Amino acid sequence: MKNIVILISGRGSNMEAMIAARDAGRLPVNIVAVISNRPDAAGLETAQRSGIEAHYIDHKAFVGREAFDAALAECIDGYRPDLVVLAGFMRILTEGFVRRYEGRLMNIHPSLLPAFPGLHTHRRALEEGVRIHGCTVHFVTPTLDHGPVIIQAAVPVLDGDDEDSLSARILEQEHRIYPQAVRWFAEDKLSLEAGRVRLALDAATPAALVAPEVR
Ligand code: GAR
Repeated sequence: MKNIVILISGRGSNMEAMIAARDAGRLPVNIVAVISNRPDAAGLETAQRSGIEAHYIDHKAFVGREAFDAALAECIDGYRPDLVVLAGFMRILTEGFVRRYEGRLMNIHPSLLPAFPGLHTHRRALEEGVRIHGCTVHFVTPTLDHGPVIIQAAVPVLDGDDEDSLSARILEQEHRIYPQAVRWFAEDKLSLEAGRVRLALDAATPAALVAPEVR
């Protein structure tokens, strides 16, 4: 079974979704550690309660991104993970860090990339008046919120939506697609060809998981 390390910065609901999927037998991975850049991240306690080793490396204690990323990489590498999962990890990573984990560093972003990279995606989607919004799991490249797309889910933007209602509808989809993406990785179904993700499908992969239904 593959080992994964999850990086968080806050509440860690995507991490929780992976723990739940693992416990339900839907995610065949060992979650070997959870690491936060914030000492007060609520997700650290959740991880510990599930018996997962949880650490924090406070980015404020470091001068510059290089020094923080070096400490983070040292902690990660101690677990020899096959995959590093960014789950609400709100730090810009250095190019050196990203290259070190090339092809085995995943991120979830709350928009249909390449639309709305960066912060406040739901507010910006509402301001733009888009009718469809969503979330994306992708392999990480040195460009922020960019990289080969693994899976996306779309939701309609409804009249009367505010940031809270829209983000709740999207979070539900995040919790569905992120464990799915990690599962594909764990099952060696993902490969990269010319900067794009190729998914090895078999009869057991329902089409609905490849093209999530718009509700
Ligand atoms: C999630 O909505 C995730 O997509 C977003 O932060 C939230 C973390 O929630 N990530 C980013 O914006 C990264 N650019 P969680 O801590 O409950 O998983």
